[in-house]
This record gives sequence, structure tokens and C-alpha cells, in this order.
Amino acid sequence: MDELTTLIDQDAISARVDELAAQINRDYADAGGLVLIGVLKGSFIFLSDLARRLTIPHRVEFIAVSSYGERESETPGAVRLILDVRHDIGGKHVLVVEDIVDTGRTLAYLERLLEARGPASLKACALIRKPDRAEVDIELDYVGFDIEDVWVVGYGLDFAERHRTLPNICVLRLTDS
Ligand code: IMP
Ligand code: MG
Repeated sequence: MDELTTLIDQDAISARVDELAAQINRDYADAGGLVLIGVLKGSFIFLSDLARRLTIPHRVEFIAVSSYGERESETPGAVRLILDVRHDIGGKHVLVVEDIVDTGRTLAYLERLLEARGPASLKACALIRKPDRAEVDIELDYVGFDIEDVWVVGYGLDFAERHRTLPNICVLRLTDS
């Protein structure tokens, strides 16, 4: 059975998303437009809340990558592109929006991939970060919450597609029977 304990409730999430959006509005006030790239699937709820709080001109794109454990044949930590953005990001200000940064391998891969396309600037925003799990150096410009090494679900985050649409971010503990 899945045991769920609330770690960050919806009011705390909402307040933090307000702050992140305010910061992004300030930082890109003179940029003349921003391309938000949401990393599917986990970021879709965070991205929709964040984007709706932006007052600067912006457009929304999505990208999807494989995550480890999806296929047994995959090397742990290996990242594969499943869905690419539809438009050229050359010369554009780009902000990658991630649900959670764990080892940092997904974001490191995306930063390499997108940087090669010559954006005017490339920054990254993650709702959650697990600092104790970091394995690679990545540049994370906006972080919602730092958490310990626990598995969290809700607000877009899943475990085997379960609990993705819970309003709160909860710690998942798997128990027998
Ligand atoms: P990475 O290890 O930083 O590359 O993270 C890879 C991906 O693993 C994240 O984008 C999430 O999709 C997923 N992930 C890591 N930790 C969690 C968690 O606690 N809950 C749900 N998904 C997670
Ligand atoms: Mg993700």
C-alpha cells in the first residue's frame, strides 16, 4: 500500500510559486520575451501555475525525456529525448521548468542540448531540489524548495504514474500488503 504524508501543502506551494514568478517577472522585465520549456510530464502543473503568474511576454513549449527505471535495459542515469520543442530557440531567452532535480542528470543533459542551439540566455527553474542527491554540476537559477532524500508525489510528481494530481506534495512510503 502507498502511505502518503504531506510535506508541502498547497498553500505553501502557491505562496512559493508567487515568489518565483515575481522574481522571474523582475529578472526578465527587459528581455523582450521568454520561452518557457516545461519538462514533461512532471512539470505540467507547476508550469501552468507559474506561467499564469507571469506578467512578462512569454510562450510555452514542452520537451520530454525518458527517466531512469522506465526500461530495464537502460543505463541508470541515462537520459533520452522523447519529444522536442516545436520552435527554434536560437537567439531567444529560455527558461527550463522542471518539477524536481534529483541527481541533476536530466537537467545537465537538457542544458547541453539546448545550449548547443544558441539561445540568447538559458536558465533553469525547479520546484524541488534534493541537494543530498546531486551527482553532477548544474546551473539552477530558481528553486522552490530544497528537500531531503525522500520520494515525493503530487503537484505533477508521480510514482509509476500514481498520485500525480494530488494537490499537496507528499512523501510516499511503500509498505507491504
Ligand atoms: P534527475 O536524477 O535529477 O535526473 O531526475 C530525474 C527525474 O526523476 C526527475 O525529473 C523526476 O521526473 C524524477 N524524480 C526524481 N526524484 C523524484 C521524486 O521524489 N518524485 C517523483 N519523481 C522524481
Ligand atoms: Mg522531471
